[in-house]
Amino acid sequence: MTRAATPAALHRTAPEINAKRLLRRLDEIAEIGRDPGGGITRLGFSAADIAARSYFLGEASAPNLNAWVDAGGNIIVRSEVESSSERTLLIGSHLDTVLNAGRLDGTYGVIAALEVIQTMAESGVGTELAVAAAAFANEEGALFPQPFWGSKVLAGKLSELPSAPADYNGASLHDALALAGGDLRALSSAAWPAGGIAAYLELHVEQGPVLERLGKPIGIVDGITGRTVLTLQITGASGHAGTTPMAGRRDALAAAARIVLAVESIAGEQRLCRAGTVGWVAAKPNSPNTIAGTVQLVVDLRDTQAERLANSEARLHHELTEVAQATGVEIEVTAASRSAPASTDPALRAVIADSARELGLGYQLMPSGAGHDAQILATVAPAGMIFVPSIGGVSHVPEEDTAPEDLISGARVLLRAAMRVARAT
Ligand code: GLV
Ligand code: MN
Ligand code: MN
Repeated sequence: MTRAATPAALHRTAPEINAKRLLRRLDEIAEIGRDPGGGITRLGFSAADIAARSYFLGEASAPNLNAWVDAGGNIIVRSEVESSSERTLLIGSHLDTVLNAGRLDGTYGVIAALEVIQTMAESGVGTELAVAAAAFANEEGALFPQPFWGSKVLAGKLSELPSAPADYNGASLHDALALAGGDLRALSSAAWPAGGIAAYLELHVEQGPVLERLGKPIGIVDGITGRTVLTLQITGASGHAGTTPMAGRRDALAAAARIVLAVESIAGEQRLCRAGTVGWVAAKPNSPNTIAGTVQLVVDLRDTQAERLANSEARLHHELTEVAQATGVEIEVTAASRSAPASTDPALRAVIADSARELGLGYQLMPSGAGHDAQILATVAPAGMIFVPSIGGVSHVPEEDTAPEDLISGARVLLRAAMRVARAT
């Protein structure tokens, strides 16, 4: 039942999300990109990602909703119910995944955002702010090495790109983005005008163990970790594994091993940043009895303080110089992405807390160790984030999950918070 023009005065009870529809959509989209061995792979701008985006566009084609794809490949769904202001409450997250992922990271927030704006549209509540849902493109950066791609484009914060941006296998971003409905040459058209976003809300699974351990159904995020992603190209000399003397070898994989350990130590015993990871390695020719001539690595550094993040990157450069000297390889470093740590907006935290309290749900103020589109939106608008518990505290693995009642609670809190922020009448 959809009546955009229904007078708000006729509504005596607060609108409520359609929990069945929320869970159905989460089940259906989880079938897209399913790995035969378990888990889901929908790398940003891959065929599976594009299939999930089509599914989402299909679900968003509903009365009083208007969906489109911007030049950055973001899907925006706007409620057409009248608002008194053009300024927008944006609610979003991402549909792309890492390799062999769980079903909820990002996707839950996008499906819940659609559920919230659809519920508001169906119930005919008028709002002061316009409301829209966003499925941000390529948040993970697991195939094209630009995490937070879509939110950076929308916020007008994308830093310079290589002249021919490509994925980790060399495929062109221009072509992949075009298949997703975007346009690399028109990215600036996707940036929203300053002040256009009145507030941003994101609902996400926690991806860690805190809420489960505390037995609390809702997390209210106070700060989000910063993240620096560096791509390293190590060039040595390939050769025969049996006949090339050990002295004088320039083994790119042996050098890479030292770098992996240096990254671990920078975050580990040196405690220069909170986390440091090398999760992707490609060695060439990758042959058992040939010395690796070239290796590519991706380094991921995280901290909640920008200064510590910068110091750990500087330390890494120092260690790279030493590895290069010791092994005779050349190391070229490209910064694929730098995302600053962010704080959420105190007023939005209070709105989320009030919404949880009204629903009788316990909550916990907490930081986020994972990166989120919210940290990019926080640079242009007040941003608020809601977490729900992750079973076993795991994420970026097929086992990632959240109890259905917690998924429903999170979406209910999001709806209440959205109605308050958009000033429903
Ligand atoms: C992004 O989702 C990350 O924290 O890796
Ligand atoms: Mn993720
Ligand atoms: Mn995510």
